Amino acid sequence: MGKKLIVCNWKMNKPTVGVDSYISSLKHTNVIVLPPSPYFHQLNNYPITIGAQCISAHTSGSYTGELSADIAASAGCQYTLIGHSERRTHWHESRHQLSEQYQRALEHNITPIICLGETEEQRRAGESETVINEQIDSFRPLINFDQLIFAYEPVWAIGSKQAASTDAVEHIHSLIKSQTHSNTPVLYGGSVDLTNCTDFLNSQWVDGLLIGRASLDINIINQIASLC
Ligand code: 13P
Repeated sequence: MGKKLIVCNWKMNKPTVGVDSYISSLKHTNVIVLPPSPYFHQLNNYPITIGAQCISAHTSGSYTGELSADIAASAGCQYTLIGHSERRTHWHESRHQLSEQYQRALEHNITPIICLGETEEQRRAGESETVINEQIDSFRPLINFDQLIFAYEPVWAIGSKQAASTDAVEHIHSLIKSQTHSNTPVLYGGSVDLTNCTDFLNSQWVDGLLIGRASLDINIINQIASLC
């Protein structure tokens, strides 16, 4: 792998400086932006890589509010998150739905970024490894290692201002690679900011970062991307 990947998940937010100004200030090519879907076409005016925050398990039809893989691909998305913990929690996305989403992504040549992570309760119970293994297993029959990225995002670290320690991240990333394929990129996400990104980026086990809140600030993203 060349430069480490920086994936910016804007979630349901606009960047602080506005969309055009953010994208025209972006100085690095190893950054992937996952905006709310109405911005796809606006971002296509710039030479940047974009992706979706989620896609539907269905191919097309009467599914109000859903985004199909077909439409996402035709709007320029090259990546999509699958199984972000906010989708698993608030939309109760099931294992079956997630594996269907994964298949829809591959059908349209969209690279899935599969999100894995344990809750605080599971961590306290010493179940982190079991949870990660179970989450991987739900995709295992389908996994295409040539076109796949994992993102380890412990649920307790997301939006919490408390990132996981580098040691804990390295331990889980090595587990994911040992359970899948050593060449499959594994990103870390969860309260990444300027104060902690260097340690993660210096780790041989971390192939990139999946960033939420801090990704809304283009100055922060340019600084983080310049460290890769
Ligand atoms: P934060 O960086 O805001 O903790 O969000 C992480 C995340 O959920 C990225 O997908």
